[in-house]
Amino acid sequence: MTNENTSAGNTISTGNTAELTGFAALGITGALLKATHGAGFTEPKPIQTQAIPPQMEGRDIFGIAQTGSGKTAAFALPILSKIIALGTKRRAKTTRALILAPTRELAVQIEDTIKILAKGAHVSTALVLGGVSRFSQVKKVAPGVDILIATPGRLTDLVREGDLILSDTKWLVLDEGDRMLDMGFINDVKRIAKATAPDRQTVLFSATMPNEIAELAKGLLKNPIRVEVAPQSTAAAEIVQGVVFARTKQKRQVLSTMLADEAMKSVIIFSRTKHGADRVTKDLERDGFKAAVIHGNKSQNARQKALNDFREGSVRILVATDIAARGIDVPGISHVVNFDLPDEAESYVHRIGRTGRNGMDGIAITLCDPSENSKLRQVERIIRSKLPIVADHLGSPDPVRNPAEKNERFEPANDRNDRNGRRDGRRPGGQNNGFGKKRFGDKPAFAGAGERKPEGAKPFKGNNKRRFGGKRPAARAA
Ligand SMILES: Nc1ncnc2c1ncn2[C@@H]1O[C@H](COP(=O)(O)OP(=O)(O)OP(=O)(O)O)[C@@H](O)[C@H]1O
Ligand SMILES: [Mg+2]
Repeated sequence: MTNENTSAGNTISTGNTAELTGFAALGITGALLKATHGAGFTEPKPIQTQAIPPQMEGRDIFGIAQTGSGKTAAFALPILSKIIALGTKRRAKTTRALILAPTRELAVQIEDTIKILAKGAHVSTALVLGGVSRFSQVKKVAPGVDILIATPGRLTDLVREGDLILSDTKWLVLDEGDRMLDMGFINDVKRIAKATAPDRQTVLFSATMPNEIAELAKGLLKNPIRVEVAPQSTAAAEIVQGVVFARTKQKRQVLSTMLADEAMKSVIIFSRTKHGADRVTKDLERDGFKAAVIHGNKSQNARQKALNDFREGSVRILVATDIAARGIDVPGISHVVNFDLPDEAESYVHRIGRTGRNGMDGIAITLCDPSENSKLRQVERIIRSKLPIVADHLGSPDPVRNPAEKNERFEPANDRNDRNGRRDGRRPGGQNNGFGKKRFGDKPAFAGAGERKPEGAKPFKGNNKRRFGGKRPAARAA
């Protein structure tokens, strides 16, 4: 991988006439430029200024920039620009560009952004993700689409069944690239990449990039340009961060006291587990706060509704697991509260990045029990700073629990760790969960992050190994 940085400025001289500025200087023209301006994007963000020109030249990109800094348009605009230039001829069941995202909600959001940026430009988009009708997705891709946004599980299923062909796919984007290359997704992603056009252009973007994952990226990117607006894991400067020391038993009261402050206009509360998210939501209700909740045990409709209600402002509090930590862009979130620390330090950077986006202010408060001190230190190591202590309740006694609540049973979900010990929420699979076969019924082997196989489903034990696209016996998948 090269360390070469683009020095593309934001002004291109056109000779002796006018000089181009803004997005026009980056090569964005015509209807696309008009729609970009229509979306309120007049001045490119630094990641856009640096990453768009080399993509327009066909280069692979390894892009790192803080949360909320405009990475979506940085990968979407060059692809749109090239696809518009190609015209409308497409082959059935193919897609010209493929954008992979780790969660369904993020995929939906990326499609929304692309539709806005491509307004009036006759570019077709489709979504392929788990938890919703497969049939309508197959129908949508049948005539061929320009840009497909997908989570890897359902995509794998469609390709395996021959409902989608990737050989015409010339652009591949890994949004939240480090997540897409971690152990939960890497095998699916490698197989998907292998099925795309050999001369494809690949770009990868994230706000975090652990070294070992950067190594893996080398296998997918060809002589990429590294565009690093800030060192990986740098939090957006606008986010004011702090830690509150409180024992687990004190956290409910600490949280409710905080939320009584009306300055907390729009708050996302992160919990490490699905069960924890449900419990926090219930406790908030008991304390008089209405909250929506989003986690991987909810139906897709319930997940999307919770997010939409929060986005539209009909609830001011969203309780979430890490499925909402990456990429979700809800302008105006004033506060992020980490009810507990995440298992992976990188998740902290993404969680707090739901606030302080696009130059806005934001506050991120982390509640830390003494048992979480080592996780706190890991977070401080990757963000390269110490979190200021906002309050310390450790010297105070635990609050007395309401006796009426004491006897209530709260059904624990089977999710001690939201990720079941893996980074993707999937249960550990056996040897037989390769690309080429189904593990149960007609469901895909895996269904992506925060997506889970049906309760009690058993891995498929048959001998129907197949290649990605065909019916022949499998050669070992890459
Ligand atoms: N050039 C621009 N001008 C104005 N607003 C912009 C511009 N580019 C992006 N935005 C806005 O900034 C916000 C954040 O953008 P985006 O979601 O792409 O960030 P991101 O870098 O992908 O963040 P994350 O790491 O959390 O995924 C969005 O609301 C988007 O509409
Ligand atoms: Mg993003």
